[in-house]
Amino acid sequence: MLVIFLLALLQYSLAATPICTNGFQLVNDKCLRYFGTSTNHQTAERTCMNYGATLVTIRNAIDNRGVQTVSGTSTNSIWMGLYCFGNDVTRCLWDDASGDSSAYSNFMAGYPQVQTGKCVFYSLSSSIGKWGSSDCENTTRPFVCELPTSYQDDCGNNYNGFCYTHYSPSPFVSAQETCEQQCGNLVSIHSANENRYLNSLFLQSQSGSLLIGATRSSRNSFSWFDGSLWSYSNLDTSAVSSGNCVAMSFGTSNNVSSGAWYTVDCSTPFGFMCKRPAGVQCPANPPQVTVTPVPSNPSYCNSSLLMAPGTITSPNYPRYYDNSQYCMYQLATLGAYNILLKFTFFSTEKSFDYVTVRDGDSSISRLIGNYSGPISPFSLVSSGNAMLLTFKSDRTNTFPGFSASFSAYSYHQ
Ligand SMILES: *[C@@H]1O[C@H](CO)[C@@H](O)[C@H](O)[C@H]1NC(C)=O
Ligand SMILES: *[C@@H]1O[C@H](CO)[C@@H](O)[C@H](O)[C@H]1NC(C)=O
Ligand SMILES: *[C@@H]1O[C@H](CO)[C@@H](O)[C@H](O)[C@H]1NC(C)=O
Ligand SMILES: *[C@@H]1O[C@H](CO)[C@@H](O)[C@H](O)[C@H]1NC(C)=O
Repeated sequence: MLVIFLLALLQYSLAATPICTNGFQLVNDKCLRYFGTSTNHQTAERTCMNYGATLVTIRNAIDNRGVQTVSGTSTNSIWMGLYCFGNDVTRCLWDDASGDSSAYSNFMAGYPQVQTGKCVFYSLSSSIGKWGSSDCENTTRPFVCELPTSYQDDCGNNYNGFCYTHYSPSPFVSAQETCEQQCGNLVSIHSANENRYLNSLFLQSQSGSLLIGATRSSRNSFSWFDGSLWSYSNLDTSAVSSGNCVAMSFGTSNNVSSGAWYTVDCSTPFGFMCKRPAGVQCPANPPQVTVTPVPSNPSYCNSSLLMAPGTITSPNYPRYYDNSQYCMYQLATLGAYNILLKFTFFSTEKSFDYVTVRDGDSSISRLIGNYSGPISPFSLVSSGNAMLLTFKSDRTNTFPGFSASFSAYSYHQ
């Protein structure tokens, strides 16, 4: 019994041994690498970025000693990944976008001192292990870069426990199918560092876009197709248009800044990136996959509160809805406005599949109408700033359904 347990434990620990890629060295569960050439802060930062890494970040006394271990004794100081906007630890921000240094810092007395400079260095001479701040451009030092650990795998791009593989242009559905055949998914991105790592794979490219695994789930929200939590976003809201898929911009000559995400049409082919766990074998004959196509227009069936203006449709529209569907649409507008609801298309099974519209936000609000059948375009106005629609189909016969736009409207314009 004990032997089996120990064997299982051994197997587990073998499978889960963290490794470092790109000549980085494992130090206290982090991957660090010392670069001995003295450069200014920006060049140091760029060099790390070429590996998808950042300048070293230090979160506790153990990390702080680890930096000393990799740096050795051949230099007086190194750059680290902290930048101060003021003379206070709460105004010093870590390069990996993880916040300020108030949880742990180890400044020498009188530092940070932004009058002298805003870039933080780590001393290896007199006050060894202590931090100071200095000019970013005209001071040069060696530096230490940091990468997360990963697992052994012979894939080309191995980062933080995942393998990333780049493929030539495809639209969303076939891109996701390709990824699933490799036991992965279109890439989901969960931190500024992961985003930066992916972007760093295209540093040599002039300009381009990378399809990533996000799709629109309602008017203003997106989700990862692999089901992981939407914990990080780099959407450039000024570049969010009507598309329901998402791409990352890279290179210098794009309208959207490099690394930022923007919405694209799901049927347009883009180069894409698959992501799968590192160190995991994909079965030789993976099961056939079918990806549910992303509708070109979201229906907003059952999505949370929808703010005017917008467009709602029956599920699958303009294709036929399914039998036994039930959908609710909660429309709202701001303050003293009313809602103007315009049905631009309406065709359901007469007397069986119907759309109800209520003047308010609840299922007991006044019924404005109960509609079914083919109806030519018509408009409705609410008396307040909310409207509730339901759509219900019975067990037989389907039709294209409806499409309706809604907007803020004032009786007293
Ligand atoms: C760095 O040096 C250059 C040229 O010597 C000078 O023009 C510039 O003002 C200096 N920058 C800082 C921040 O001291
Ligand atoms: C960039 O923006 C301009 C003006 O809005 C537009 O004409 C052009 O097509 C855009 N280029 C790309 C690559 O999206
Ligand atoms: C919408 O929500 C209702 C009630 O929660 C549920 O019964 C229905 O199946 C949902 N419709 C769709 C298309 O998911
Ligand atoms: C709408 O009409 C259908 C049949 O035409 C009926 O079954 C349903 O109860 C009506 N809904 C409301 C809210 O009156």
